[in-house]
Amino acid sequence: AIDITNLRKDSGFITLDSGYQNTGSCKSSITYIDGDKGILKYRGVNIEDLAANARFTEVAYFLVHGRFATPEEKSEFSQQLTENSMLHEDMIRFFHSVPPTAHPMSILSTMVNAMSVFYPQYFVDENDGDRYNIMASRLISKIRTIAAFSYKRSIGEPLVYPRHDLPYCSNFLNMMFDSPVKPYQIDPETERLLNMMLIIHADHEQNCSTSTVRLVGSSKVNPYSSVCAGICALWGPLHGGANQEVIEMLDLIHREKLPIKSVIEKSKDKNSGFKLSGFGHRVYRNFDPRMKILKKEARSYLSTRGLNDPLMHIALELEEAALKDDYFIERKLYPNVDFYSGILYRAMGFPTEMFTVLFAMGRMPGWIAQWKEMHDSIPFKIGRPRQIYTGPTDAKYPGNQ
Ligand code: ACO
Repeated sequence: AIDITNLRKDSGFITLDSGYQNTGSCKSSITYIDGDKGILKYRGVNIEDLAANARFTEVAYFLVHGRFATPEEKSEFSQQLTENSMLHEDMIRFFHSVPPTAHPMSILSTMVNAMSVFYPQYFVDENDGDRYNIMASRLISKIRTIAAFSYKRSIGEPLVYPRHDLPYCSNFLNMMFDSPVKPYQIDPETERLLNMMLIIHADHEQNCSTSTVRLVGSSKVNPYSSVCAGICALWGPLHGGANQEVIEMLDLIHREKLPIKSVIEKSKDKNSGFKLSGFGHRVYRNFDPRMKILKKEARSYLSTRGLNDPLMHIALELEEAALKDDYFIERKLYPNVDFYSGILYRAMGFPTEMFTVLFAMGRMPGWIAQWKEMHDSIPFKIGRPRQIYTGPTDAKYPGNQ
């Protein structure tokens, strides 16, 4: 890597790198990826280790504060999450004015941005630890309430308020699935899976949404608006929205009985406008370690529950066919985190439109940690890329003709 940060900005030297394929935007000590070897670590700890053994709230604290919490800090953090789980009644009113057809990601981004309306006292002050802690707990806790409320609203059921006696994931599952007609019983295996899935989504260095959080945050706007921008970036089908797209693609293949070969061929045809959702990655050129964990978990969850999901069979067939195809081999295209996550979410009872919301819930600690790291960096610089201008330089205003 070449560091050109100190090159004078009027030197006339501009690097052009469409899509930032080879451009580093920052130095970071949060997430390490080796895309050739399929390695992912949060602050040096292997994702496999965290996914198998940690609680999401522990990982969230670790990312946000840079170290694991002591037992006292753990209980203080847990207390803060509990205290911040409720939404202001005026925020709740908003849920009653959105059409039931609204996509939960649009509600989520709106409500997270609305936090800057309800908590305007947050100004960027890197030295004020308390305000950072409160902001972090508020976002990590409230996103789960907003997510569950947007789902309840979409199905026309009464909102289920957060409970102070339940831990993070169980509380969310209860808000999602408890209903007047069928009280929800916490299922430990579903709770374990949700916890693991939130962990594996918790950070992923300078992806599209995280870079957006940093870029927007670099103008020193409040953190809620920065994170809202990240949520909007995540929604797109080339990024986190791919988890919804994958299931819709598999479902279409299933419903229309499309031959796997024809799907693969179509994805290779540049004129078709179709790509294999859940395949390919900017950084992983071998395999995505998160996908490996999810594929294994999907197999075991479906089999222990006796669920014979035809979409799982189609996903396995697609993967096998793509990995044997020269087009995918030459371009080093492998299934990514989104390829099997939707199959699991579906088996756990989540509707398709909630998949990207679940991704955002998991990613929240990473966005906050990256926002903080950027604000702590020296020198602090507003993000402002350059361009190569290709338009005319001598056009004239036509005037009133
Ligand atoms: N299906 C078919 N062809 C593909 C796919 C795919 N899923 N992904 C990439 N390619 C092809 C490209 O068309 C290109 O072909 P070319 O060399 O003949 O022009 C080549 O592979 C290289 O791809 P790029 O577009 O340069 O890859 P890039 O790094 O820009 O994009 C991305 C990565 C956006 C993930 C891409 O692979 C894609 O669109 N995948 C499908 C959507 C998806 O799964 N997104 C989720 C990513 S993970 C995440 O964000 C959480």
